[in-house]
Amino acid sequence: MKTLEIAVIPGDGIGKEVVPEALRVLDAIADIHEGLKFNYTHYPWSSEYYVEHGTMMPENGLELIKGSNAIFLGAVGDPNLVPDHVSLGGLLLRIRREFEQVINVRPAKQLRGMVSPLSNPKNFDILIVRENSEGEYSSSGGRVHNGIDEIVVQNAVFTKRGVSRVMEYGFEIAGKRNGHLTSATKSNGIAHSMPFWDEVFNELSAGYPDIKTRSEHIDALSAFFITRPETLDVVVASNLFGDILSDLGAAIMGSIGIAPAANVNLNGKYPSMFEPVHGSAPDIYGKGIANPIGQIWTAKMMLDHLGEPEMGAIVLEAIERTLEANIKTGDIGGSSTTSEVTDAIIAAMKEQIR
Ligand code: NAD
Ligand code: IPM
Ligand code: MN
Repeated sequence: MKTLEIAVIPGDGIGKEVVPEALRVLDAIADIHEGLKFNYTHYPWSSEYYVEHGTMMPENGLELIKGSNAIFLGAVGDPNLVPDHVSLGGLLLRIRREFEQVINVRPAKQLRGMVSPLSNPKNFDILIVRENSEGEYSSSGGRVHNGIDEIVVQNAVFTKRGVSRVMEYGFEIAGKRNGHLTSATKSNGIAHSMPFWDEVFNELSAGYPDIKTRSEHIDALSAFFITRPETLDVVVASNLFGDILSDLGAAIMGSIGIAPAANVNLNGKYPSMFEPVHGSAPDIYGKGIANPIGQIWTAKMMLDHLGEPEMGAIVLEAIERTLEANIKTGDIGGSSTTSEVTDAIIAAMKEQIR
């Protein structure tokens, strides 16, 4: 029996609605695969937890989850209770940083049964590989008042190691896909970091003669996500550029409610973390209408990562069959509830192994 220890952090808002749904899907996987078992440990770390305890997680929080095989997280953020930079900084970003989850992998591809808002979508299949530990999200900077004006400096930090690492990941994964890697740059306007980014990209590309490379400025690349997404394969981007591109990728798929993500630890010292691209969606929380597909597709990425790609494939196939059957939540034009969509996905999983 393969028993996987999963640290479950539903977090805030719709995280608390979609995480239990995705766990139902994982339980159904354990029913299908007799040699596989999930052991969940639930952690109530959230903005409500902060209101009660003054921190987003207990002092030994990271110790508690460090030994798990993976972390499964919903979403963090309840700006009415805790400022976002405090809640996100104390939980999501802290885990990413301290557990050295240096790469964030975010697919954006056309699923069967999804209607893209693009007027003439060709079959696109993009994989965004986002730097997840430095860049524009650095904590370096500060605020001064010099007697005349208030000045805030936010440094973006790019290390050779960090940039090479995310690009190498991009090259490797492009080699397993369509062999095409696009780098998101802005070296025409940003004087230090982006020319360096280009330099490292060009240096590394010499070692991957079979990968076709392309560099696009982030502004133009954003437009290409809309006008010709089918020309993109793997896209490697800095932390902030990758963040923005992944909401754009979600939008062209048809909704941010379906977009998955994996925060990958490469050195094996800490677990990786799986959380969808979307946030806690306070505007729809509590109504039972959140789209569970982002969280469920994220569970599929976790299965792939934990060495169960066949089980992952069953989940994605079931998601597509459910969409084709038009069992959809409101964000993608349907009227089904969160749990009705999950029920349909689980039924479609069982159908596949009959
Ligand atoms: P959001 O992703 O929460 O919501 C943006 C829009 O998309 C909203 O209209 C929402 O209703 C809709 N939406 C999102 N997920 C959906 C789903 N599963 N089904 C249907 N509709 C969905 O982004 P936001 O409004 O910018 O942020 C809300 C809070 O979440 C903030 O506190 C923000 O900081 C936080 N946030 C957290 C994460 C994370 O934990 N990974 C990611 C993004 C935002
Ligand atoms: C994401 C989110 C986070 C990020 C925020 C909430 C800090 O937008 O996971 O995409 O910017 O990384
Ligand atoms: Mn984001």
